[in-house]
Amino acid sequence: MEKMWAGRFVGALDRMADDFNSSIHFDSKMYAQDIKGSLAHAAMLAAQGIITDADCDVISEGLESILADIENGTLAIDMEAEDIHMFVEAELTKRIGDVGKRLHTARSRNDQVALDLRLYLRDEAKVIEKGLLSLITAIHEKASENTDAIMPGYTHLQRAQPITFAQHLLAYAMMFMRDVSRLADTVKRMNVSPLGSCALAGTTYPTNRKMVADALGFDGITENSMDGVSDRDFCVEMLSTCSIIMMHLSRFSEEIILWSSWEFGFVELSDAYTTGSSIMPQKKNSDMAELVRGKTGRVYGDLIGTLTMLKGLPLAYNKDMQEDKESVFDGIETVQKCLDIFAPMLSTMKVKKENMREAAGKGFINATDLADYLTKKGMPFRSAYKIVGGIVAACIQGGKILETLPMETYKGFSELFEDDLYEEISLDTCVKKRISAGSTGPEAVQVQLDLVKAYLEEKAASCH
Ligand code: ARG
Repeated sequence: MEKMWAGRFVGALDRMADDFNSSIHFDSKMYAQDIKGSLAHAAMLAAQGIITDADCDVISEGLESILADIENGTLAIDMEAEDIHMFVEAELTKRIGDVGKRLHTARSRNDQVALDLRLYLRDEAKVIEKGLLSLITAIHEKASENTDAIMPGYTHLQRAQPITFAQHLLAYAMMFMRDVSRLADTVKRMNVSPLGSCALAGTTYPTNRKMVADALGFDGITENSMDGVSDRDFCVEMLSTCSIIMMHLSRFSEEIILWSSWEFGFVELSDAYTTGSSIMPQKKNSDMAELVRGKTGRVYGDLIGTLTMLKGLPLAYNKDMQEDKESVFDGIETVQKCLDIFAPMLSTMKVKKENMREAAGKGFINATDLADYLTKKGMPFRSAYKIVGGIVAACIQGGKILETLPMETYKGFSELFEDDLYEEISLDTCVKKRISAGSTGPEAVQVQLDLVKAYLEEKAASCH
């Protein structure tokens, strides 16, 4: 196929170089955005008297028919084309003749690709947001069912203080809510139109960039033509947002994997989201969670790859930038797939409350509450801490636990101990008495549940 830029060349492009140069096998994804951008561009050219209204009509009809035919499967994108922009333009000229050649007036592939990518990412961000909201919904539901599930809370992966499973899950709801807002932020900065920057220096035609931007739903235009064609910050931001989502998913995955182990036995994943072993008959592996954790590295790679590709690039466009798309597409697709699998995996996960409670009953998880008991009776916290440390050490030595240690032993450590201490250090009390805002106490958890519910309702309302 003759290249659109063939005029200056005598010889043909080497076959391997042609292949190496081509981006059609990945940028064909952006066909709809490319065509929508061209439609807006043609309308602007006509409005400004740069092309005639009649030509604009023919071009628009041609573009619409290409879009419809790709969508209904009658037109296959030609993988021999250099990229999606060249393909659409060539197809247009094939369909409507020389008029099609007027479309590229006052435009370059440099601003065109920057436009397409912004449009594409803006659309995909909506899909990611939907995935995040479904996950938050699943978390909210699981948390609501588990406000009474007492489990050990950990620091350093050592049993620390009793918490409820609801509190633990809601921590993730907060993370994913931040991700939704980070995504909105990313889109907000991305949502300006670079079209009309042309190759790098703008154009001598009396274009109206604002008109194109408005037609495509952008909040404004990029203010500097060289920045317009060479800025890929929005890709980096998008991948960074994706990386943070993956980091959250990965931490969650790691916990689910741990909780599913025999050693923890806190949860059981549904058969639908686990796999067996080809040799060990007893195995039930959390492959989905492990894959999500594994794919996190891949999305980080997409981010670092893009940052590294851009580092040191002189202004304005360089072909290096063609490499942005595979990373960004991969990052987005990976996040979407991970979110899609995560929500149902979580919803169908069985929670073994008894095992959680049993684990919480071991390991002196109520030692802080015992120290607080003395503090509330007037002893300075640091002194109480020391006394309880001594009691724990004695228990460990004698194979005892705090709940059943006799009163006379307690009295030997402090006269302040009385019978009510047993009630005070029971797991239920430890949780119930947590009254601070954001804590694991039942009221504070209810506040969080209400907050997440209101958030989801508001999001659902604003989507319609
Ligand atoms: N396929 C190219 C890309 O993705 C489109 C822009 C080409 N521009 C150019 N000056 N060769 O970056």
